[in-house]
Amino acid sequence: MVIFNQEKCILCRKCMQDCYPQAIQKENEKMTVSGECMLCGHCVAICPKGAVSICDYEDEPEEYIKEKFQIESDNMLHMIKFRRSIRNYREKIVEREKLEMMIEAGRYTATVSNRQEISYIVVQDKKNELKHMVLKKVEQYVNGENAVQWQEKLFRNASVIIYIVGDNAINAGLAAQNMELMAATLGLGIFYNGYLTKISGSFTEIREFLQIGEKEIQLCFMAGYPAVEYRRTAPRKKPEILWM
Ligand SMILES: Cc1cc2nc3c(=O)[nH]c(=O)nc-3n(C[C@H](O)[C@H](O)[C@H](O)COP(=O)(O)O)c2cc1C
Repeated sequence: MVIFNQEKCILCRKCMQDCYPQAIQKENEKMTVSGECMLCGHCVAICPKGAVSICDYEDEPEEYIKEKFQIESDNMLHMIKFRRSIRNYREKIVEREKLEMMIEAGRYTATVSNRQEISYIVVQDKKNELKHMVLKKVEQYVNGENAVQWQEKLFRNASVIIYIVGDNAINAGLAAQNMELMAATLGLGIFYNGYLTKISGSFTEIREFLQIGEKEIQLCFMAGYPAVEYRRTAPRKKPEILWM
């Protein structure tokens, strides 16, 4: 629920003008909320007096700091271009604080209608248990030699497996992309794992291990400290663009 601190509010109506579902009104010299508020928090973020809060969240809003926001566009593009799927890792545990920062990057990503339905499963301590379970399933379908290749293909030697669970593939994909960029700033790398996503969601035993109930695994990726260093960008197709 959106709460207005009437003593701080100066009735500037910035919140009202920025409210996408038009749920804020000015009534009897007070700002009020009615109707379809989607708790997007724009009113909290835009208020010049810090007069708006939402009691549904535990988050304490952070103030905007211009210096922290300055990322040169050239640097940003350089970083995006040098992002690579990492399939070879150092044997090194990923610190909890770094994983938490990646999840924070996911959590602050846009979601359809501000659904925020995404949840995360981070497998590091129990990675071998998961690995064993997955490979046992794979071995039922492939012969011995292939099983070794599958082990390589599925897990590489990454330290962590992160699952993104939710009911919207776009939400999950966008969160994952922010997480990948955050990972890069932390000296980590990731690779999206389509095979493991499919296998993990297909077997009851693995689903139970991951405690996802009826929820959908939208994607998963491996993460860790890269053991490879890329020296230049990988070439890409020319974009097909219609300027009009
Ligand atoms: C949805 C998705 C699933 C992917 N699945 C796998 C996978 O199962 N195994 C793998 O090694 N790479 C996987 N990748 C990584 C792609 O192969 C990789 O992005 C592509 O080859 C381009 O390389 P780059 O990411 O280094 O630019 C996947 C990527 C996406 C977006």
